[in-house]
Amino acid sequence: MAYSEKVIDHYENPRNVGTLDKEDTHVGTGMVGAPACGDVMRLQIRVNDEGVIEDARFKTYGCGSAIASSSLVTEWLKGKTLDQAQAIKNAEIAEELALPPVKIHCSVLAEDAIKAAIEDYRQKQK
Ligand code: FES
Ligand code: FES
Repeated sequence: MAYSEKVIDHYENPRNVGTLDKEDTHVGTGMVGAPACGDVMRLQIRVNDEGVIEDARFKTYGCGSAIASSSLVTEWLKGKTLDQAQAIKNAEIAEELALPPVKIHCSVLAEDAIKAAIEDYRQKQK
């Protein structure tokens, strides 16, 4: 299958690969797996006192589209409020990366990872 140029760019130069301190109360961690293929994505956000995401990191064990999707969303997340981040849809990711139908679930993984990271952060604030 041919990958789009944007997928190849993110795959070859992934942005924001790495890890934030899971124990930090400002950090939310989302870990999700794709039942369809077994790929795993971990996405972390650091949220400042104004509720704005100031950093995002990912580690993805998966296909090129999953890596590109997570790399792309780490770029999108920075500077967004939690509500804005929550509103990111997998369809926007798939469109930006021109993912073919069989790779749509890779972008779903990224949307799910964002939601899981936000949920983890919100739980920590209780
Ligand atoms: Fe998951 Fe391709 S099936 S890596
Ligand atoms: Fe399963 Fe991409 S995440 S093939």
